[in-house]
Amino acid sequence: MSSNMDLNRLREDLAHKDPDLFSALRSEEDRQQLGLELIPSENYCFPEVLPLLGSAFTNKYSEGYPGRRYYGGQPNTDIIETLARERACTLFRAEYANVQPLSGSPMNQAVYLGLLEPGDTILAMDLSHGGHLTHGAPVSHMGRLFNFVRYKTIGARGDIDYTALEETALKEHPKLIVCGHSSYPREVDYARFQEIADKVGALTMADVSHVGGLVAGDVLENPLDHGFDVMTTTTHKSLRGPRGGLILCKAKHGKAIDASVFPGLQGGPHMNQVAATALTLKLAATDDFKVYARNVLANAQALSQALCDHQVQLITGGTENHLLVLNTVSSFGIDGRKAQEVLDRIELTTNKQVIPDDPNPPVRPSGLRLGTPAPTARGMGEADMAIVGRLIASALRHPDDDAHLADLATEVQALTARFPVPGL
Ligand SMILES: Cc1ncc(COP(=O)(O)O)c(C=O)c1O
Repeated sequence: MSSNMDLNRLREDLAHKDPDLFSALRSEEDRQQLGLELIPSENYCFPEVLPLLGSAFTNKYSEGYPGRRYYGGQPNTDIIETLARERACTLFRAEYANVQPLSGSPMNQAVYLGLLEPGDTILAMDLSHGGHLTHGAPVSHMGRLFNFVRYKTIGARGDIDYTALEETALKEHPKLIVCGHSSYPREVDYARFQEIADKVGALTMADVSHVGGLVAGDVLENPLDHGFDVMTTTTHKSLRGPRGGLILCKAKHGKAIDASVFPGLQGGPHMNQVAATALTLKLAATDDFKVYARNVLANAQALSQALCDHQVQLITGGTENHLLVLNTVSSFGIDGRKAQEVLDRIELTTNKQVIPDDPNPPVRPSGLRLGTPAPTARGMGEADMAIVGRLIASALRHPDDDAHLADLATEVQALTARFPVPGL
């Protein structure tokens, strides 16, 4: 691993060798430090993870699995991958783990292709109600390969409509039922999912990509405790690791999952990423991480309360996890794209979001998505979230008032100056 001195020298070299690239790197670092990341799928990874991503492991090809590689020279890669697998199983109480998926999308694809046949029916959440592209959106390759049938949310609390879900499962007889979401602010009733799947003989998969860190930190339910066949999670969101994916499953599915990841879908795993994942899983098993996970939830509650106090309409009226979806059309009379652009101007980074059965298209949707993993990683607390809530409401009420937005941007910078980004 390079020392700090080496890293500084390498940065200086980069400044000379590729000034354009270096300048973009510097301005990205400034953007992250001066602004605040509120996209719920983003985070500041553990600082210790960054050097592993730039370590010697990036040079190594390791197709295969520990003890069964296609190339020589694997004594150290076998150690780190075995560590990562063992730590993943312990942390998530899983029987089996595959730590090689390059990211969340190949991770989910590997599960579908490993456990099902093309054309099989999969029951998954409607995209506008909180599902992810890889849960069979028509524009995704998976949407073309499998027969996806949808379930939705219902009511003012925006819970999954479990009654309709059961009726659809009884009618469609899916091979797999998928839960886990990108924009669903409610806790999932995994026991109910498993019960429905048992009734129709379906496999169960929970994609906890967003809340993986909150499951690891024991503040949200673990689907594997409820008998799920498979749980997938990205490593770079609430878990604070490198970009990547984990597949955790019952032992009986291990062989099929391994074969599906490699050689089915991928070639050589990124061993620098596997090393960083192994470290992430160790850090996520600490008491400090449990405190972090609790604080993510407390901060989401505080942000939700602050927004409600400023008469902002949340899609589900509140949140039980790390994310919130605002209805910007009903709250401010502007669409989600405009809201995102306005908040960019005051250095609050958010993303436009479709709301359930949105009448508007995804490029100009009616909502905006916010989350608290990143501000919490900077050490912000509930009082800071109250400030952020006020700033958001104030900016979106005056979207074209340049002087007002400039004042708010100054307030954001005063806030972020107190909380350095970990690792920068
Ligand atoms: C629920 C869910 N699954 C899968 C993914 C895909 O992950 P990636 O972007 O790493 O491919 C995401 C990404 O946001 C997600 O929210």
